[in-house]
Amino acid sequence: MKEQPDAIAALAATNPSPGEKFYPPFQVTPELTKKAKEYIAMYPEGKELSAVLPLIHMVQEKHGYICPESVIWIADMCNSTPIHVQGIVSFYPGIRTSCPGKWHIRVCHTIACALSGGEELLAYICEKIGINPQALTNEHPIAVSSDGLWSIEAVECLAACGFGPNLMVNDALYSQMDRAKVDALIAQYSNKA
Ligand code: FES
Repeated sequence: MKEQPDAIAALAATNPSPGEKFYPPFQVTPELTKKAKEYIAMYPEGKELSAVLPLIHMVQEKHGYICPESVIWIADMCNSTPIHVQGIVSFYPGIRTSCPGKWHIRVCHTIACALSGGEELLAYICEKIGINPQALTNEHPIAVSSDGLWSIEAVECLAACGFGPNLMVNDALYSQMDRAKVDALIAQYSNKA
């Protein structure tokens, strides 16, 4: 494996999260390597770089986020460099560099949803799940509850602008949300295994 650049190594120390107990830590296993090779084989020979994004998604789906070790591993698998992979990771807002909670809530704060109450809803959800909304900053776009069960993130358009305010819990989209619907949603997910 290529040497870990200091800038990437530093991310590990700055992004601990209580959500980590709900996701397996990143580990290179024969299964993971096999799956990565399957993705890489979908592209023509010599075009391994094209598989960087699919591998990022694969790792994030299983481990919750992209840790520095996984950046190095993906670079290695795709015949790339950690700094190239890190550039892709930092470019897309949907790629996380810190672990979310078990239930990750993404609230749209783009104009249509903001005008239909999305900003107020975000503050209300923070209150419900025990997160200080001021913890959400450009530097730390994800805030996680102390029990690791919940996390929240203000995101750009979720492509359902006519039905705002919109939010997602993990991969499920919920539209035309209000306080009562949020209460019901949080109760529903709190009871999920
Ligand atoms: S503005 Fe919220 S979904 Fe498009």
